[in-house]
Amino acid sequence: MPLDQYQRDIDYLRISLTDACNLRCVYCMPEHMAFRRPAELLTDAELFRLITLFARLGFRKIRFTGGEPTLRPGLVQLVRHAARQPGVRQVSLTTNGLMLDQLARPLADAGLSSVNVSLDTLDPARFRELTRWGNVRDVLEGINAVEAAGLRLKLNAVPIRGVNDTDDAIALARLTLEHDRQVRFIEVMPFANNAGFQTGHIVRETELRARLEAALGPLEPLHAGKLDGEARMFRLPGARGAIGFISPVTSPFCAACNRVRLTADGRLRLCLLRDDEGDLRELLRGGATDQELETAIGAAIHRKPWGHNLASDLIPASRGMSEIGG
Ligand code: 5AD
Ligand code: SF4
Repeated sequence: MPLDQYQRDIDYLRISLTDACNLRCVYCMPEHMAFRRPAELLTDAELFRLITLFARLGFRKIRFTGGEPTLRPGLVQLVRHAARQPGVRQVSLTTNGLMLDQLARPLADAGLSSVNVSLDTLDPARFRELTRWGNVRDVLEGINAVEAAGLRLKLNAVPIRGVNDTDDAIALARLTLEHDRQVRFIEVMPFANNAGFQTGHIVRETELRARLEAALGPLEPLHAGKLDGEARMFRLPGARGAIGFISPVTSPFCAACNRVRLTADGRLRLCLLRDDEGDLRELLRGGATDQELETAIGAAIHRKPWGHNLASDLIPASRGMSEIGG
């Protein structure tokens, strides 16, 4: 299994399939966003090849992200290919959920294990405000389709100060009372294209937890307070589901990081919040052998940085969130 220079096992690959999206969440991208030309993106054939190589190197978990990964016509075939690789135990998807009504069943049949749906509010008007034109009903239908297809589901919300950080967050948390669902709140992170916005709008975990507890009762820590992946998990009194907090800004989990990211244009990004990358597309298109690619991937992983340095105001400059996939 690949180890980095700090002896962390790196066995989780997140693959961004496109930087394009059918929404324009205000904290993620401007309304008039320019996306990459198709020729810049890895082709399905290039992705099949890289997925095979990463699996051979010992990667056990693959997640498809975007932009919005359901915009990519080959998604179902890519999931099937990933799920078939020996050693790969989990194939998952992070999506805004708009297309899941159509796609949940074929994705489940292709071997997908779980879906993370981004949902920042249940309120139709506020959803439109946050996404600029989305219809929350489409997401709710997508969520139902995910559950009907027997896929595991997590809901991810980004609380934005003064927008969805009170009633909306409470309503989302309340979803865990009746249903065995996970709802996770993610602190908004700064990228060059949203840094000014982030500074004024971040809602810290401690603050949100206090607000949810005041409204819904004490949050009982799960897993003895240890991280479950990158989330700290809790349960409301009598709830069937669980509430998580992912707090990369105020409570970094870099020490336990096990992931690297493949961008849609074929760069291996070594830390979400650092600009260090390795260019795999150039190698692929320059005729590199499998061995050469494996060596390049191993060398890039070895130099994965320890973690982010937001505390010293070091903010990633080369790409925004939608070009990395979270
Ligand atoms: N900080 C934290 N989360 C973000 N997302 C998008 N931009 C940011 C940001 N700056 C979230 C989306 C989605 C996931 C892919 O990342 O809401 O849930
Ligand atoms: Fe699209 Fe996700 Fe960015 Fe919203 S956060 S614009 S859904 S990529």
